[in-house]
Amino acid sequence: MADTVQQIKDRLSIVDVVSQYVKLQRAGASLRARCPFHAERTPSFHVSPERGTYHCFGCNVGGDIFSFVEAIEGLDFKGALKVLAEKAGVELVYERGGKEKKDERERLFELLETATIFYTSRLNDAAKKYLKGRGMTDATIQSFRLGLAGDSWSELSDYLKMKSAGGGSSSGGKYTEREMLEAGVAKKNERGSLTDNFRYRIIFPIADSAGRVVGFSGRIFGEAASPDAPKYLNSPETPLFHKSRVLYGFDRAKVAIRKLNCAVLVEGQMDLLASHQAGWANTVAVSGTAFTPEHAALIRRMTDNLVLALDADEAGIKAAGRAARTALQGGLNVKVARLPTGLDPADLIQSAGGGSSSGGKEGADAWKKAIRDSKDIILFLLEVLEEHLPQKDRFRRAVETIVLPFLSDVQSPIAREQHVHEIARRLGVSESAVGEALGKLPTSPGPASAVAPASVPKVDPKTSWRSTRASSRARQAFSILLWQQSLEKPSIDVAAYATELETAIGPEAFASLSTLTESEREALRFSAEKLHGKSTNPERETKALLVVILKELLAAELDDATMALKKAENGKDEEEVTRLMGVCKLLTTRIAQLHENV
Ligand code: UTP
Ligand code: MN
Repeated sequence: MADTVQQIKDRLSIVDVVSQYVKLQRAGASLRARCPFHAERTPSFHVSPERGTYHCFGCNVGGDIFSFVEAIEGLDFKGALKVLAEKAGVELVYERGGKEKKDERERLFELLETATIFYTSRLNDAAKKYLKGRGMTDATIQSFRLGLAGDSWSELSDYLKMKSAGGGSSSGGKYTEREMLEAGVAKKNERGSLTDNFRYRIIFPIADSAGRVVGFSGRIFGEAASPDAPKYLNSPETPLFHKSRVLYGFDRAKVAIRKLNCAVLVEGQMDLLASHQAGWANTVAVSGTAFTPEHAALIRRMTDNLVLALDADEAGIKAAGRAARTALQGGLNVKVARLPTGLDPADLIQSAGGGSSSGGKEGADAWKKAIRDSKDIILFLLEVLEEHLPQKDRFRRAVETIVLPFLSDVQSPIAREQHVHEIARRLGVSESAVGEALGKLPTSPGPASAVAPASVPKVDPKTSWRSTRASSRARQAFSILLWQQSLEKPSIDVAAYATELETAIGPEAFASLSTLTESEREALRFSAEKLHGKSTNPERETKALLVVILKELLAAELDDATMALKKAENGKDEEEVTRLMGVCKLLTTRIAQLHENV
């Protein structure tokens, strides 16, 4: 594993990786961008190509390519490893032979992968015929790994009982009942035996952003299915499957979302497949749950723009409204694609032009038009309401109760102001009246930041070494040490510098600086790099800085000594006066010497 990590690091630079998600600008020796992990207008997210790390001074996150991908894609380390290995073209080799026991999560991932392969192998002609009838091509069926759960009670569990993780016999042992329950593929019946969770269903594997299957959605299929069974059944919440965090199709869509700088949100599995097939690879779907702030955060790391294309039935419109508010609150720009009443995206794509069931070009074109014509949510609402409520009064009241709450969710002040302008125009009232009505609404929460900023330990400002001016110099000098230590080829004699620094600031301050957290250290490295990274003579610059620190320390000591001297003079303490005069003289001389040295 260590080898793989190194290989990946050799092949992918931090810039290669980060620039796929955020737009980097050059700033001195490092590159910077607006932080993808918190909302900000001025860039405080820095990337150091030389050291292969990133750090945000705003929210205090930082790390290397692996932690970056973990954070931005919402993955664990292994997931990030998979994403980066694919990017780098490095093959992931898992150790076999059981020396290192597979951890539990890994076994669950493998169990779900095995289940996926099992389901795809069961996809029969009848199920294929159904999918084809709904316009799905073989390529779509294969690439989305659609499968079938048959009519037996325990087909899958029986199969899994005979399998063990990693294929080899010594690499972790057979899957247990507990693991099948935990992965959400089986449940216990009243008699205490295991039954499969999915039966008579077409299976849609749901993957995390690294493409690892974490759960399934199953659509009812076949005559034997119970008539009152729900149309779609999803895996239960498991340690790997969290409905509120996962978006169906996200693993396949993320690259296109970034490239097109826009994501399309649909409501169901079939809608997603149809949309991808029609050429909109930037489509994602919620499955069996509302659109959550976590979903919004996931999308926002790839783009700021979201098009909602939810069913045009009443339930769909309500859902779209809720999704839109969540998305706006998450800092996304939201547009709405208006679909013909009664049609969901899958229907539209398949049956545009009426009659033809081939789902050909016409359907794809109608879908394209719907997305192209999508309107900003506020304008969309205004238009729909104006159509339905021609009477001025009712329209005005509806704007107040329906549109303004959406407007209060809009995070961008500029966009908000534009909308205020538009609403005032349409209602024939002043902008300040609209602004006032808006101000009366309860304020909405700010954008959800999915990555909590690392907390910085609080220090008492009075006793802290950080509080004095000399200390801030010491910190700066220490930051150079940290920075140089982290370089493969430091440009100064690091050991000698460390000794000089310790002497200059004293062992206590030095020790206290040595207890900084890694995140604080990383922040210091970045600031040092920023200040001195372009220096042509770092050796001289660091010396000069040490001198400055010494001077400030001596000056502070001189201040103290002068104060004490005054006190002693007032108290007529002759002996003390003499001693302190000596001290002051010594300090003054040393300061003068320093001046000469620079
Ligand atoms: P719809 O009822 O609109 O289904 O549910 P659909 O997508 O049009 O399905 P098809 O076209 O008949 O196959 C939309 C989405 O809501 C979730 C599923 O994710 C579905 O795709 N859903 C629906 C459930 O989770 N459970 C249900 O019983 C129904
Ligand atoms: Mn449908």
